[in-house]
Formats: sequence, C-alpha cells, structure tokens
Amino acid sequence: MIQLKVRIDNAHGFVSDEEIKLFKSETDLQRRKIYEKTGAGNDFLGWVDLPCQIDERLIESIEKDAARIKADSQVAVVVGIGGSYLGARAIIDALSSNFYQMQFTGNKNPLVVYAGQNIGEDYTAELLDFLNDKDYSVIVISKSGTTTEPAIAFRLLRKHLEEKYGEEKASERIYAITDASKGALKTLAVNKSYKSYVIPDDVGGRYSVLTPVGLLPVAVAGFNIREFVNGAINMQEYLKREEDIFKNPALLYAIVRNILYRKGKTIEVMANYTSNMMYFTEWWKQLYGESEGKDQKGIFPAGVNFTTDLHSMGQYIQDGMRNLFETVVRVEKPKRILEIPHDNDNLDGLNFLAGQRLSYVNKMAETGTILAHVDGKVPNLEIILPQINENVLGELVYFFEMGCALSGYILDVNPFDQPGVEAYKKNMFALLEKPGFEQETNEIKKRLTD
Ligand code: PA5
Repeated sequence: MIQLKVRIDNAHGFVSDEEIKLFKSETDLQRRKIYEKTGAGNDFLGWVDLPCQIDERLIESIEKDAARIKADSQVAVVVGIGGSYLGARAIIDALSSNFYQMQFTGNKNPLVVYAGQNIGEDYTAELLDFLNDKDYSVIVISKSGTTTEPAIAFRLLRKHLEEKYGEEKASERIYAITDASKGALKTLAVNKSYKSYVIPDDVGGRYSVLTPVGLLPVAVAGFNIREFVNGAINMQEYLKREEDIFKNPALLYAIVRNILYRKGKTIEVMANYTSNMMYFTEWWKQLYGESEGKDQKGIFPAGVNFTTDLHSMGQYIQDGMRNLFETVVRVEKPKRILEIPHDNDNLDGLNFLAGQRLSYVNKMAETGTILAHVDGKVPNLEIILPQINENVLGELVYFFEMGCALSGYILDVNPFDQPGVEAYKKNMFALLEKPGFEQETNEIKKRLTD
C-alpha cells in the first residue's frame, strides 16, 4: 500500500465522479503510451522504471562519496539550475530544520549550499566570501554540461578551490554529475579526473531527482537515500498495477486538473501549511510548468506558503479572478510538538488555546481556508501525507512525475521537452556576442536601437 492520498471532496462542486469516469478509456490509452514508451517524447521515459532499477552498487558508491565529503568538508556546494538543482533542494529542505542553513557550527553533516541557480554577482561573490574560511567540496550537476549559469559558477568555484587547495587536491573535492559522453562538463571531468556520475540519457532534468542528481546531495546532507528510493519504488509499483481511476492517485490528479482546466481554471495554486515544503513547491512548479506550458496551452503552476501568504495572496485567491484551483499538500503529523502556554494576564486573549498544539491551530486554519476558498469558487484538491520523511517524499516525487506525464498526455503536449527555454538563451548569447551567434547579435542590436 501507499501512504499518500489524494482527496477531491472539495472539488466535487466543480467536477463530478461521472465526468471523471468518462476519462477511463482515454487514460488507459495514455497509461499504455507511458508504460510501453510509445507516446510523444518517449526517448525521455527512463524515469518510469527508474526507482526499481536503481542499482545497489550506485547507492553504495553515492553513500561512500557522501561519507568522504562529510569527513573532509564543512560545506558542500551544489552547482546546478532547474532540474539539476530543484529536486535536491526540495528534498533537503523538506527533511531539514527550518534553520539548518543558519546553524553552521556543530552540524554533523556538511551544510549544503547552492550555486549556479542564478547569475547574481552579489550572491556568487558572497558565497565565495563565505567559503573562504571553510573546508568544502563541490558537486557540479549539468546534464547537457553546457548550461551557462552553472558553468560560470563552476568556473569561479574551481578557481577558488584550486587557490585554496592546489589543483590536484581541488580535483579530489569536485564531483561531476553529467552526461555519459558529451558536453563541456564531461570533458572537464575526464581531463581533471573528477569523480563522476552519469545522468541517464532517457531521464530529463526535471525528472532526475532519483538519479545521482538528487541522491548525492541528499546523502551528503545526511538523509537516508535508500528510504527515499524505497518510497519511490512503492509508488512506482502501486501506480503501475492500480488501474482504477479512483484508487490511482496519479490518474485521479491528472484527470481532475485537466477537467478543471477545460472549465477555465487555468492556474493551479499549490499551497502548503508546512514551511519546509516551500522548495518542494518550487520543484513541482518546474516539473509541471516546463512539462505542460507549450503549444499555447497548459495550467500555470503557482505556489503559496500558508498561513504566511493568506496575509498577502489570500485576498486574490478568495476574491480575485475566478480562474484558479488550489492543491493543498497536507502533512498530518509535524516532526515536533509545541503547545501554546497559559498566560495569567491573557492580554492577547489567547488562553482559550492554552495547552493546544500549534499544529491544531494550523490544521483549523487549513480546514477553514479550504472551505472559504471553495465558497469563493476555488476548487480544492488535497494531497495528504502522513508525515514528512524520506520514504513519504519518495512516494510524493514519483506520484507527481507520473501525474505530470499523464496530465501532459491528456493535454496533448509532449511533457518531456522544453523548446521554449531556448528563446531567452538565444537572445542572451546574441547580446553577449557569443561566437557563432553573429547574425543574431546583429539582429538584436538593430532591434534595440530602432
Ligand atoms: O528540466 C530540464 O531539462 C531543465 O530544467 C534542466 O534541468 C536545466 O535547464 C538545467 O540543464 P542542465 O542540467 O543541462 O544544465
């Protein structure tokens, strides 16, 4: 059995079970396309069977390297962007203390920090300052091995590391995760003898968190990657054998969101009431936005953190343009226990809550908000997790991956490509006068001066 549940009771005023059942023959077809690898983008379906195929030797090697990094580094810098960054960050943040980034001293595991996910000069300069007096290692991740943002960050970090430790010792502190045979990062890794891991050809960036892309950083941060993989295996096997729409959460989620989309609900707002899940929402935004937003179609994935954002975006969700639906990722059991104390003066009037746990108040806020939003004509879906741990997150990752593939096929797009991402790169290279972009440079300069 799986631990994750999808609840659609609060979408029933907008989507009926009869409408859902009408998708049965279509989704049977889409499922076959995925499992038999016959649909659009079928070169990138390696993630479907991936969890069950993860080799014990790969896990052992990752655990060994993680132990080495833990032994020689206070900090691990993960260099990557998009699918080469968000998965690891989502899992590490979900499992960590909210303040782990600030608890530098006394950590038994290296602090994981990120680079190359932006080209901010201040961010990168401040990171190098921070690293000046720390022992650190670099995990550089790029499937193509040519992405500009991580390549720039890696060049700077390599120089910093080589100045600190000398070229040979620096190379021993660099771990490259990239394509098996091509790309600049692959060439560098071979020439400089970096320890390397391969991202399988048939696994796209945003579906790669269960490859070394996610597993090495998560292991370095001190979490149990075997349990993470086990959760994904459990979900993989369950979703494959369960054909009933109402029992297969990925099918149900994919169908309901497409029905809502066809009824004009073009924005999906993912809400959490658990602050550690903020980066999980970012990972989900990339997975769904990059997979479905094409051919002038697709649900726009947005994210909010509640109750924080009830005091900012809450007004819009309750009362703005009615083109939204909301997906709440509900975590039943917090990691910690904290009760509201009694206060003799009771000047804040909160004694009626004395002795109650914060999670009780949070849950009432969640239930009250869902009902208010449904009253405000925002359909609500709930993804319910018993708690946050490695195993549950493994389930959640695979659930969203399969939900995304199914949903993209129902929408009739290729969920595994990202042609739109090239447009900004072409303009940026033209403006930077990159060799090979001479014609584009002339055109863009003309456009800017006309
Ligand atoms: O999902 C994707 O394919 C993208 O988001 C990539 O992960 C991102 O662009 C980074 O690419 P790369 O790993 O080639 O550096």
